[in-house]
Amino acid sequence: MAESRPEQIDHFKERYGIRYQGLVADEAMVVSAMAYASRVGVQVMQQGGNAVDAAVAVHFALAVVYPVAGNLGGGGFAVYRTSEGAVHTLDFRETAPEQSTRDMYLNANGKAEPGWSRNGALAVGVPGSVDGMVRLHERFGTQDWASLLAPAITMAEDGFPITALQAERLRDVQDDLLTYNTHDRIPLLGIGWHSGDTLRQPDLARTLRSIQQYKRAGFYEGENLQRLIRSVQAAGGLLTPNDLRSYQSVWREPIQFDYGAYRFYSMGLPSSGGILLAQMLYHLSHFPLAGMGWNTDRYLHLLTEVERLAYADRAKYLGDPDFVAVPVDTLLSAAYLDERLTLIDTQRATPSEAIEAGTIEWQESEETTHFSIVDPAGNAIAITTTLNSRYGSKVMVEGGGYFLNNEMDDFSIQPGVPNQFGLIGGEANAIAPGKRMLSSMTPTIIEKEGDLYMVVGSPGGSKIITSVLQAFLNVTAHGLSLQEAVNAGRVHHQWQPDILYFEDTALDSLTMAQLTARGHTLRERSPYGAVDAIRILPNGQLEGGADFRGDDAAMGW
Ligand code: DON
Repeated sequence: MAESRPEQIDHFKERYGIRYQGLVADEAMVVSAMAYASRVGVQVMQQGGNAVDAAVAVHFALAVVYPVAGNLGGGGFAVYRTSEGAVHTLDFRETAPEQSTRDMYLNANGKAEPGWSRNGALAVGVPGSVDGMVRLHERFGTQDWASLLAPAITMAEDGFPITALQAERLRDVQDDLLTYNTHDRIPLLGIGWHSGDTLRQPDLARTLRSIQQYKRAGFYEGENLQRLIRSVQAAGGLLTPNDLRSYQSVWREPIQFDYGAYRFYSMGLPSSGGILLAQMLYHLSHFPLAGMGWNTDRYLHLLTEVERLAYADRAKYLGDPDFVAVPVDTLLSAAYLDERLTLIDTQRATPSEAIEAGTIEWQESEETTHFSIVDPAGNAIAITTTLNSRYGSKVMVEGGGYFLNNEMDDFSIQPGVPNQFGLIGGEANAIAPGKRMLSSMTPTIIEKEGDLYMVVGSPGGSKIITSVLQAFLNVTAHGLSLQEAVNAGRVHHQWQPDILYFEDTALDSLTMAQLTARGHTLRERSPYGAVDAIRILPNGQLEGGADFRGDDAAMGW
């Protein structure tokens, strides 16, 4: 088994032609946030499992070795393409509890209290991940369910050595763990975590064993249900037994669109990812990007202007399609998009107020996780899953050993009030019992001339969609290898606030001056996102792109 854990490579090497490539493998590959999890997925496939079997094993492994975002108490989305080219997408996004109300995060004066939707038990949505894994496996898995959970259980029981980055995050979260829990049965508690320390999670092993034995019922019924409800209610949250028992993931139609020789399959509502990618690439298809050069000011100006337009639509129109009418067909129609295209000035920045009103700023903490898998038969799966913030609501289920999400913050808690990613919304994304909060997660599978070409996705909150867009364009328009494309510095604009964010490796000082002269307001924010992707090379081999920003690792054979 070959493995690659990329290090940072100076961006000037990218600009001036010293080339590098990610792991290349012949048969199969997993790229995920942690080497332990990637290895588990590869082993499942070496034992005859397909991409879905591997994905289930990787998901549960990440719940153990990547507790910051890997999860049992969160939700996500899966895009699966069979080797015959059939595409299926599964929505296992959290839902709002039945006792939730539209104004539950407003104080007595009618003012939004963002802290309530971000930390502690009131922020928790009904978890979807376990149901999602069970549904995926029931429909497409080939291996014994119990065997797929076994590696995760072993790692929870025996422990694993944490990385330097994990130690840093564990040190940072200590105060919050004490603040938002009513118990101290939390194996992550402890001062002075260091790289190489062993993290053992016996309670988590027990919960995993219950899921191993009883599948869905091992989480949504019985002892685990009791424990989960007790912890949430003790900490002032709203979840009821009925919320858990009635949770259902949903198979949905993918968002499908063409860009040149490429056909995209991405996640539809309640994720905004696929719709925004389609809009942005439609607009970009009107410009000769390839001739512009990587991250030149002309290219970044256009990228910014198409992002501005798409995120303005996100704020106004997008929400859970089971609850609100969203004009998806219109938003993706050539007539509508051609009209929007006329708003782009190819030379100068158009102020966001001229597109829609409102100016905001925000502070965020961001952690989600994405993994990409291709199996020896050519089946491919892209899964993005999250607790929302790092360690979610910070509430750990007592005796269960896992964190609960703070996904409720992805709703628009009041019109015009930004969530932790600075995203605003209104009616379409207002809270209602049973409704799914709008997401930016963008697991995506791309074909080229009918064949599998790329499996891609990222964490990063609102920046997920633009991270996926840039990873794709870095390869197809700018000729970078996948690993270079993933490592390359990124930029981001989301309409509001009217700021062009950039990572320090994305721009040189000349480009910054040129963009400023075009009217853009620049602000550095780095690093962000973690694109974990696989590309099929022209000779049929697989190239991995594992983001150097984290501990991400590609493995394959
Ligand atoms: O669903 C969403 O869009 C967010 N809850 C994702 C959060 C996220 O990516 C945080 N990570 N870096």
